[in-house]
Amino acid sequence: MDPLLSRFLAFLDASPTPLHAVHTTAARLTAEGYERIDESAPAFERPPGFRGFVVREGSLFAVRVGTKRPREAGFRVVAAHTDSPNLRVKPNPVLKSNGYVRLGVEPYGGLQIATWVDRDLGLAGAVYVRDGQGFRPVLIDVRRPILRVPTLAIHLNRGVNDDGLKLNKQKELPALFAQEVAAEADPLRALLAAEAAVEPADILTWDLSLYDLVPAALGGANGEFVFSGRLDNLGSCHAGLEALVSAEEAEQTAVLALFDHEEIGSQSHRGADSRALASFLSGVGGADGLEQALARTWLLSSDMAHAIHPAYADKSEPEHAPRMNAGPAIKQNVNVRYTSEGATTAAFVLLCERLGVPYQWYVHRSDLACGSTVGPMLSAQLGVRALDVGNPMLSMHSSREQCGSRDHAHMVKAMTGFFGLV
Ligand code: CO
Repeated sequence: MDPLLSRFLAFLDASPTPLHAVHTTAARLTAEGYERIDESAPAFERPPGFRGFVVREGSLFAVRVGTKRPREAGFRVVAAHTDSPNLRVKPNPVLKSNGYVRLGVEPYGGLQIATWVDRDLGLAGAVYVRDGQGFRPVLIDVRRPILRVPTLAIHLNRGVNDDGLKLNKQKELPALFAQEVAAEADPLRALLAAEAAVEPADILTWDLSLYDLVPAALGGANGEFVFSGRLDNLGSCHAGLEALVSAEEAEQTAVLALFDHEEIGSQSHRGADSRALASFLSGVGGADGLEQALARTWLLSSDMAHAIHPAYADKSEPEHAPRMNAGPAIKQNVNVRYTSEGATTAAFVLLCERLGVPYQWYVHRSDLACGSTVGPMLSAQLGVRALDVGNPMLSMHSSREQCGSRDHAHMVKAMTGFFGLV
């Protein structure tokens, strides 16, 4: 397999949660000579060539300072999101009834619930454990089929094929976890304690997600697809990471901004609708030169796009219906649900022409409500020119999605060129 694709599949498998995506990204950056920055240390301007990153739980911001200072050549920011819709474990999740133990879960983001049933599910995230007078997070990944949301047999649900599979999120979504445990036993706490190598009583709380255990794979008759969970938007995160570490030295300062919480609106201390990125840019660029730097800055917001669907082709705008493996889709919306407009789009088209990267257009059907990305809020907050692009995919927000295997290299190439965009 092509080395870039095998790194992509490995990244997808290693990243069942935003915490893991950030952990995986941080490990790669460290191996590439990036140093971890303490955000609470006094801000100071980083010298040319400096490489570093900060971590805020499920968000990560990395920088490679250009040969000129940011105030002289600006930032080239690639932004994407680390989170995907899934099922999250509640604080008091253990539900015992009819000889079963189920775990209460809350849907995170706009997931397609029916795609989570009858699958072998693992459990990953962080467990917060006592540490002296304080606490520490322990990253865990239970990569075994310990959970399942079983469907009701068709004999007991005769209308399912005509009515569709509908689950009540409170009553029918809790995941089956165990059987025949003592009344006082807490099998989740016991499992987590073993995973974190601590005593059950030392577990204070957790941020845990269920995930589909089937590994990412090349699919299709000729390997033209990638099948995996979380392609939206780990596809963009990984492309940005590859581009950052392989981009040639430039005058401009390259920034990779990976945000948690996009799927739930981005309003959090580490989301795109926060001061987090502005703080980071002023820290690495020098606060007194920030306005000059931002005036010279371009933002590339990358989030997966909707490919035309063979069975539902009429859901696409016929003249702006991207196909998989035909390059990044430039997303445009006149109401700025996507940021691309004349000047930024023209620059990107020229860039693609120069690099030999194919590109295409995405516009949502005019009679359907359009989605959005981190692009508009970042562009507005920072006051920087921006555009939105994304590789086309199917089954967005399903537990198992699909994109084109050749598009990943297209996006990496386009982003690599973007980091040097004048
Ligand atoms: Co997305």
